Amino acid sequence: PSARASDQALWEHSTLNQILRRGELRVGVEAGYMPFEMRDRNGNIVGFDVDLARLMARYMGVKMTLVNTQWDGIIPALMTDKFDILMGGMTITPERNLQVNFADPYIVIGQTVLIRKGLIGTITEREQLDDPKYTIATKLGTTGDIAARKYFAKAKIKAFESEAEATLEVRNGRADAFVYDLPFNAVFVARYPGQVGLLKETFTQEPLGWAIRKGDPDFMNWLNNFLRVIRADGSYDALYGKWFEG
Ligand code: ARG
Repeated sequence: PSARASDQALWEHSTLNQILRRGELRVGVEAGYMPFEMRDRNGNIVGFDVDLARLMARYMGVKMTLVNTQWDGIIPALMTDKFDILMGGMTITPERNLQVNFADPYIVIGQTVLIRKGLIGTITEREQLDDPKYTIATKLGTTGDIAARKYFAKAKIKAFESEAEATLEVRNGRADAFVYDLPFNAVFVARYPGQVGLLKETFTQEPLGWAIRKGDPDFMNWLNNFLRVIRADGSYDALYGKWFEG
């Protein structure tokens, strides 16, 4: 009977149970990370993560609310219950995993280099950028920033608060390159053809996962099975096609 009682207590405290009782799934994102979460012309946040969150809420039978949060405070915001789940294209790292739990990866990406217009044709391999004469822009607190410091140890690194600021720096030539996740950089070059170049070859392999607070096996079980189901029934592929092959 004591085991049964503690299972009941776990479920009582599960974020999933709270979502169902509240009738609302609160999803933490940071808009600006294309094509996972970004603003459309009307200022609405749209993207791959947003569509997955909406599908998730539909299966739960609740409404979905986005909680846009600055990247550098997004893990603390999850831990202090500002939202129920972080769906922000977050790379699963052992360090982050000490603070939060991750559902199974929903995609694997890698780091790439966006280069300024004047270097197109001159810089063809990332190794050439590992030189004190180059300045590399990154986004603060991302795996891109960590990778830049590791793979471009000789270059000058300038970290920015947002993707928009870091890429602007490359567009106006104040930085030579921007190190970031391939999906973002691919959308960016497609949006500014001829104005920036892309070294498409990825030099890291990073699983992205949705993060939840620790100590919640019921919510974790639901998320991993949701992922299995949407992968098996084609709805994952449909959304992937919409955002990555469009
Ligand atoms: N995958 C990278 C990381 O985890 C970048 C994610 C940025 N996401 C965002 N919503 N701005 O560090």
